[in-house]
Amino acid sequence: MSTTAAPPAIQPNIARGIHHVAYRCIDAKATAEWYEQHLGMTFMLAFSEDKVPSTGEPDPYMHIFLDAGRGNVLAFFELPNSAEMTLDPNTPNWVQHLALQVESDEVLAATKARLEAAGIDVVGPTDHTLFRSIYFFDPNGHRLELAVDAGRDDLVKRLFDLRMPMIEEWAQTRRAPQHARFLHDPDQTASTVSDD
Ligand SMILES: [Fe+2]
Repeated sequence: MSTTAAPPAIQPNIARGIHHVAYRCIDAKATAEWYEQHLGMTFMLAFSEDKVPSTGEPDPYMHIFLDAGRGNVLAFFELPNSAEMTLDPNTPNWVQHLALQVESDEVLAATKARLEAAGIDVVGPTDHTLFRSIYFFDPNGHRLELAVDAGRDDLVKRLFDLRMPMIEEWAQTRRAPQHARFLHDPDQTASTVSDD
């Protein structure tokens, strides 16, 4: 039997967007109210059953769905019969997060001001060259990011061409490859778009 694996076949992308992403929450009602109050995300649907639909296992739950814009949906489960929720203690709290796109820097700044006025700590804006972001936590301890795209398709193209050498070097060394250092060089990232 040969141990040489055939390269995987390239499939057309079957994904048509994120149907929904689901996290656990502490209190479904308080979570729906928080997202509506602070981010204007409409509470769209509530599913509640005594059994898990996929397995039939008894486990009463409340499952809520919030409008994340452009047909994307953010969902939560409240599970009163499970042990108190915790986040992964071995993963730094900046790693696992949900990033929501917003329309403009004005929306980013206004949202930061509103969140801070409500007593919520906000980090940023942080300039990632391709986009600018602010960060904060929801009442369940989930980290949220709001991001506004900088419209730099030229830089995205450069990064696309570098992705394979970067991931190969990382896989070999587990040290950050330096191919994309230009993102931090203002001379190399100055927009080439003219006004004429
Ligand atoms: Fe992010």
